[in-house]
Amino acid sequence: MPLLIRGGRIITASDDRLADVYCEGETITRIEPSIDPRSLPAGGAGVEVVDASGRLVFPGFIDPHVHIHLPFMGTHAKDDYESAGMAALVGGTTTLIEMICPGPKDEPSAAFDEWRSKAEGRAAGDYSFHMAAVRFDELARRQLREIVEDGVASFKVFLAYKGALNLNEADLFALMEMAGSLGVIVTAHCENAEAIAAMQARLIGEGRTGPEWHEPSRPTIVEAEGVRRITTFAELTGAHVYTVHTSCAEAVREAVEARLRGVNVWVEAVVPHLTLDRSFAERPDFEGAKYVMSPPLREKRHQDFLWNAVRAREIATIGTDHAPFDFRGQKDMGRDDFTKIPNGVPSLQERIALVYTHGVAAGRIDLHTFVDACSTQAARIFGMYPKKGTIAVGSDADLVVWDPDWRGTLSRRTSLSRVDYCAFEGWPVQGRASVVTLRGEVQVRDGAFVGTLARGRFIPRKPTHF
Ligand code: URP
Ligand code: ZN
Ligand code: ZN
Repeated sequence: MPLLIRGGRIITASDDRLADVYCEGETITRIEPSIDPRSLPAGGAGVEVVDASGRLVFPGFIDPHVHIHLPFMGTHAKDDYESAGMAALVGGTTTLIEMICPGPKDEPSAAFDEWRSKAEGRAAGDYSFHMAAVRFDELARRQLREIVEDGVASFKVFLAYKGALNLNEADLFALMEMAGSLGVIVTAHCENAEAIAAMQARLIGEGRTGPEWHEPSRPTIVEAEGVRRITTFAELTGAHVYTVHTSCAEAVREAVEARLRGVNVWVEAVVPHLTLDRSFAERPDFEGAKYVMSPPLREKRHQDFLWNAVRAREIATIGTDHAPFDFRGQKDMGRDDFTKIPNGVPSLQERIALVYTHGVAAGRIDLHTFVDACSTQAARIFGMYPKKGTIAVGSDADLVVWDPDWRGTLSRRTSLSRVDYCAFEGWPVQGRASVVTLRGEVQVRDGAFVGTLARGRFIPRKPTHF
């Protein structure tokens, strides 16, 4: 059904104007100051009209860092493509990029097939993948090339998680040489695996076993070293890199320093690091386990630095690193040993409300920076622009009609994720997606999913990082 969004304030990364948006056949076909429905085919009969007066209209938001199907630390993340897709859409996220994270012995092609099979026919929203390289032998080299040809234009590497997802340095260097020649961007979890393993062993040996010791086992310098290493390899190989979930001033500074040397590096921040600090992981009675993620939540002072870096556009994107593990039955596997707490803080549904509340409404960033960081940059960096990430004639009709006056609170009760807690329980938020469309079809109204499951589609991407 054609769709007309009338009277909204259209906000993109660069523009702000009052206009009507008309969508037909999944794409935006007209943007004009005023579109009279009678001027539409058949006099507007059969057109769905959304009144957006008093509302902001954003391009559908893109989360560039999501885990849904995630076998990790001896267990599996709780969401699937239905729950995560609905949670994302209700929160205003129309496209997500999931990390394919196979085990070190798994074949990349088998992993790609497995992850795709979880999404196909089930995804509520549009999706793409980053392909993790956890091994780099001849077979992996060949299969990774095939996966790029099949539409995955970004790799993921882990400098952390010794003995699990970590790629050794020789293989990392060789992978980055290949990525550079293919124009594939390398996204990287930057922490020093060896230093962390040694410090974890030391702390556990001293009887420091609670979740509050997770941060001291991987301090900021460990992350800064990781960023230094990946950007050094980028400088030597010519590969373009993207540092995921960058949590602290020291790590961002390393990336900026590399950029000034001519390295092509983009920086991602994630909602937990922008809104939560390490005191949450220090909560008594093991409650802190809900807030164990890697890199860890930092001292509060880093939050101001991260927000300022978003405002200065030194940080390009804000994602979530949504990694949903239940408090009961999963996080508590590490009750006697913090190194066994599955890492992750879920925030897929909450991301946009939190960034709007703590960023825009708090005066830290303007509306254009908000759209840029939460949508446009992810589309540009990962080869989806201008199909995704903006409001323009020819773009997919992924639109978020935002009510800036809505007030509410975040809670497990209203969360569509299957995880058993909300890390932001009771937090007040300002603004809500009152209507969300995915390729021209209304999927969300007033906080409720009203759309079609399985409407989500794989978005193939071509390499752009030459
Ligand atoms: O704590 C985190 N970040 N869990 C998910 C895996 C990863 O490192 O992204
Ligand atoms: Zn990570
Ligand atoms: Zn992650």
